[in-house]
Amino acid sequence: MKIFETITETQLYLQKNKNDKNKIGFVPTMGALHQGHLNLVKQAKSENDIVVVSIFVNPIQFNNEEDLLKYPRTLQKDADLLQKVGCYIIFAPNEKEIYPEPDTTIYNFGLLDKVMEGKFRPGHFNGVAIVVKKLFDIVMPDNAYFGEKDYQQLQIIKSLVKQMNIPVNIIPCPIVREVDGLAMSSRNMRLTDEERKVAPFIYQILLQAKGKMNKLSPKEITQWVNRQIEIQPLLRMEYFEVVNATTLLPISNWDDCEHAIGCIAVFLGNIRLIDNINLI
Ligand code: PAF
Repeated sequence: MKIFETITETQLYLQKNKNDKNKIGFVPTMGALHQGHLNLVKQAKSENDIVVVSIFVNPIQFNNEEDLLKYPRTLQKDADLLQKVGCYIIFAPNEKEIYPEPDTTIYNFGLLDKVMEGKFRPGHFNGVAIVVKKLFDIVMPDNAYFGEKDYQQLQIIKSLVKQMNIPVNIIPCPIVREVDGLAMSSRNMRLTDEERKVAPFIYQILLQAKGKMNKLSPKEITQWVNRQIEIQPLLRMEYFEVVNATTLLPISNWDDCEHAIGCIAVFLGNIRLIDNINLI
């Protein structure tokens, strides 16, 4: 496995592979890897000739300074994990390599980046789009793998690829959960023991909400989920919404769309967690 820090050496190595017509699979990450990331790498391995994983904590997608400072940086441990699953290349640039000068591009995603995460984290998705576009330009992958836990991010990336005509297939991969149901996230390692015990409750509520679809409307389910979160002293609701899985706009009736999902963001202590569940 090779670890490259510069764009030049990464591109030089990848060019050889492109000349040999090798298919390149790409998994962009911010490091602090867990089984969810490793599953993306495994899937990429099974569908491509070589796999590139980028590890870059992208400062411009954080709208909370403390979150950026506290984001776990565990490059050596990440590299060991990636070696074990057979990753070929890690691209781990520093900030100057990616942003030799500030990038002020403003993307237009219509309403996709205004709802849910976009409402509470203004500028976040523009920062994600800027870095993902740069990474795609550097790696020029055939296939790129993204987890469905960040469901809204996935829709934004699909829209980015479409509007910028980037020749890459975006491959969504299912959420990976701990045995108790908690969606895997790099933030989980920052939970206290007490918070960690409460965390699985989030997915339990989503499952129970799904079980109530026959009796309750999307609005009633939303009210029910809000009440469940309220009665847990350690949890604080940011939002729960039942949305059309393509437009991400809230639905009023179950037959408003073919595919609806329930998306949630909650604070557990100081840690903000997101999750989602397929409803129809
Ligand atoms: O999902 C993430 O880890 C990040 O948002 C991404 C896609 C690597 C961009 O920094």
